[in-house]
Amino acid sequence: MGSQPLVHVFLVSFPGQGHVNPLLRLGKRLASRGLLVTFSTPESIGKDMRKASNIGDEPTPVGDGFIRFEFFEDGWAEDEPRRQDLDQYLPQLERVGKELLPKILEKHKAELRPVSCLINNPFIPWVSDVAESLGIPSAMLWVQSCACFSSYYHFYHNLVPFPSEKAMEIDIQLPCTPLLKHDEIPSFLYPTTPYPFLRRAILGQYKNLSKPFCILMDTFQELEPEILNYMSKICPIKPVGPLFKNPKAPNSTVRGDFIKADNCIEWLDSKPPGSVVYISFGSVVYLKQKQINEIANGVLDSGLSFLWVMKPPHKDSGYELLVLPDGFLEKAGDNGRVVQWSPQEQVLAHPSVACFVTHCGWNSSMEALSIGIPVVAFPQWGDQVTDAKYLVDVFKVGIRMCRGEAEDRIIPREEVAECLRQATSGAKAAEMKANALRWKKAAEAAVAEGGSSDRNMQDFVDEVIRRAAV
Ligand code: UDX
Repeated sequence: MGSQPLVHVFLVSFPGQGHVNPLLRLGKRLASRGLLVTFSTPESIGKDMRKASNIGDEPTPVGDGFIRFEFFEDGWAEDEPRRQDLDQYLPQLERVGKELLPKILEKHKAELRPVSCLINNPFIPWVSDVAESLGIPSAMLWVQSCACFSSYYHFYHNLVPFPSEKAMEIDIQLPCTPLLKHDEIPSFLYPTTPYPFLRRAILGQYKNLSKPFCILMDTFQELEPEILNYMSKICPIKPVGPLFKNPKAPNSTVRGDFIKADNCIEWLDSKPPGSVVYISFGSVVYLKQKQINEIANGVLDSGLSFLWVMKPPHKDSGYELLVLPDGFLEKAGDNGRVVQWSPQEQVLAHPSVACFVTHCGWNSSMEALSIGIPVVAFPQWGDQVTDAKYLVDVFKVGIRMCRGEAEDRIIPREEVAECLRQATSGAKAAEMKANALRWKKAAEAAVAEGGSSDRNMQDFVDEVIRRAAV
């Protein structure tokens, strides 16, 4: 690795696909600027990542630097079902991590690769406690939008009225944000959320917010200007997104998939430009069987070609395996393809893809926006409902197919087919495509040399190097 040792940054990720992807992308962006980056997460998913994503033991060159992986044991047996219960798993991770991480960092110091900065993503705020106790600077990567960051911040500090048991259906006015209806704030903040453990997990980060010297965000200045300006006066925020674009190492093949992606690109190659609907609900959302049936029939009725990701549920999740209606695949023939996992960035960038039916997870939202693909918004819970509001009403690249799980409504096939038609042909489709292409241009400019995210990233790297020298 040359004679001058590279400055070493250590990344710790919560073991979820929607968390690993943005942190690993940040790691690659940092490596490409000449840092040595270690990416770390529990072995329970490390074993899947190694298999699905060809991760080896040696550091991999990325641009001017390197990235390497170091997985750690979380203290539970390989098949422990309690990992699916965050109220049990997060304290376990914290207990084990607080003991293990200092030892791992000690080992790196002894091997003359001292760690100069620790970076974590949400759900594991104790990483900044470890950093503080060892006198190592730390940063946090926020993996959702700044609008969501602000919602949680205002809720945590009780700064504006939010829905409560007494007043459920109130509108919420946050600074520099359009008026949000009760079902457009991150749904974990709603008093009747079925996921109070996720609210606890995400708010946990706010207790420790004063410790990281920088809060990196996978968004960009031009996308959320007012709210970023506002929140940056309160917290040390640096928008550095879209993270999945890395002009300094565009051909890096390092990926962090938990499931091997199906090769659907050849199938897409066989389809005419702008003719395929891509359907994916990310890594953790599972729809009801009835809803799957309606989507399947709606897609067939629309007559459009489709690529549909149906990820099987985790064996301990308690979800039933979803099935497609009888005869569905036969009827679709070569017009349709169903896979367990796709190389989503490549799929969205494929000229055959016309629109994206998405649950509006923030990673998927950023990918669609910065690749220039209009969306059909099918949010379920958490930040997805807020992202859907922004995609449709603020960024104006999408139409709404539903309002979220709280709506408790099965969207019938006629509505599904109508949304798909509207998103792929006619005036509305053309307007959304034009807006999406404008965002694509803005995203590319943000990460290009001298762009807002490029400058923020370089400032961050310079700061890490400066602090390493002290
Ligand atoms: C979760 C939450 O649901 C989301 O709301 C939050 O913002 C982040 O954590 P997830 O539901 O998995 O994430 O959705 P999303 O944020 O969209 O992340 C999914 C990632 O998996 C994306 O980067 C996407 O490109 C990738 N993916 C998805 C694939 O590579 N292949 C697929 O087939 C599906």
